[in-house]
Amino acid sequence: MVSQLDSLKKFSSVVADTGDIDSIQKFNPDDCTTNPSLIFKAVQSNKYKKLVDEVISNSKSRKFSQTEDQVNYIADQLTIAFGIELTKIVPGYVSTEVDSDLSFNTEATVEKAKQIINSYEQSGVPKNRILIKIAGTWEGIQAVKKLEAEGISCNCTLIFSLTQAIACAEAGAFLISPFVGRILDWFKSNTQKEYDSSNDPGVESVEKIFNYFKKFNYNTIVMAASFRNKDEIINLAGCDKLTISPTLLEELSQNDDEIKLKLSKEYSSSLDIERINVNESSFRWHLNENQMASFKLAEGIRLFNKDLLKLKELIKGQL
Ligand code: E4P
Repeated sequence: MVSQLDSLKKFSSVVADTGDIDSIQKFNPDDCTTNPSLIFKAVQSNKYKKLVDEVISNSKSRKFSQTEDQVNYIADQLTIAFGIELTKIVPGYVSTEVDSDLSFNTEATVEKAKQIINSYEQSGVPKNRILIKIAGTWEGIQAVKKLEAEGISCNCTLIFSLTQAIACAEAGAFLISPFVGRILDWFKSNTQKEYDSSNDPGVESVEKIFNYFKKFNYNTIVMAASFRNKDEIINLAGCDKLTISPTLLEELSQNDDEIKLKLSKEYSSSLDIERINVNESSFRWHLNENQMASFKLAEGIRLFNKDLLKLKELIKGQL
């Protein structure tokens, strides 16, 4: 039996979307993505108590003027410690996200990204294994432009619109993560329509971005993220990369129904697509016009920040 997971791997690079190190080995993913919510979840698991205790204990040999500095340091080191473990499992990239409260500050995002890369390098993980995840705000995208120019590869995340995607590609982003499930979530809550695999607006958003990128020969990798069900994944077979939770990886590995190629450069190139010029004002205008994308981008930043703050509270309690 050839599982759907194995069939999918013929069309797309499969990435694991988790901080749960032990849960992905059996799926042999190429890369791994994390985010502040996934790291917070993993840190709470008893499985990683030793790793967490080690990071906290190592921090005690350093001098901090305030507890808050120590907590911030531990939060960063924990995120990196999980990243380091993940680099031992996947052969490719591990994505590590910059603090969400920096999403509107280009300089601070650049500085934080460099700190993360330095920490990885000090632990023996070369920068070519790491993608710095940065929210697709205008300021975040300008940070991506600077980082890519300095040889640090970025993963532009929380992408809900073609405008954001184009701005990232024009900035030279190595990779973008267009979200699927969160778009479906918004449409389900904000419209009276019924949605199924034939009209999933999250899938349609990725198709549009993929077609545009391939039509105009952008090198930026399209990695669809945030899946709610197996159909969303199957309907994007052929996308450059797909980052998938362990639960959905398991479902795909248990099923052997046929998977067909849905996205291809050949097909995209044959389409008649109008070129769009994105600059700062048009970016802000289009985002403002797109209620779903504005809401989901803002909410995404809020939620990741909330989980980072929860992680810091948890650390404080353990000091
Ligand atoms: C991965 O890069 C994303 O952070 C992740 O897929 C988000 O998934 P969610 O919408 O299920 O939180």
